Amino acid sequence: MRINTIELKVFEYSNSDELSDQDKNLLQCAREAGKNAYAPYSHFRIGSAVLLENGEIIRGNNQENAAYPSGLCAERVALFYASANYPFVGVKALAISALNIENIRTEIAKPCGACRQVISEYEDLAGTPVRIILDGLNSIYVFEGIDNLLPMRFKKEDLK
Ligand code: THU
Repeated sequence: MRINTIELKVFEYSNSDELSDQDKNLLQCAREAGKNAYAPYSHFRIGSAVLLENGEIIRGNNQENAAYPSGLCAERVALFYASANYPFVGVKALAISALNIENIRTEIAKPCGACRQVISEYEDLAGTPVRIILDGLNSIYVFEGIDNLLPMRFKKEDLK
């Protein structure tokens, strides 16, 4: 028996002023997008913003439904819109921000497992690590690539 360790790296910033102008702008887009979420059931409003290789920024937010599983997370709304409208244009970065039921920013917005898997697909399509910016009340986490959020991920090579 052997114990193998998987290392993940997270860059922690105390606030958005420490980010580059590009990241700060993307995060601001995610924050604004979250305000327009359709979340009458959970009252959690999540915003996402995707930066594409062509410079386009696509915003998304969570869309809920009376039939709960029919709703979709903010990240996938933005990523699917991006891929539908800008097919095969690489995803460079993704920012996520969340407001709780009291309209207060949550401590580190965390993408769900399904969204991590979807980010993984588009990262592989782009061929370079996607920069993932997670907003939070007291700090901001930045990950250089989905391997840091979804280690041992399932990818198309695994279908062989
Ligand atoms: N949600 C997102 O939009 N993104 C995530 O990664 C986690 C969860 C949404 C789905 C649902 O509308 C609400 O947050 C509560 O789960």
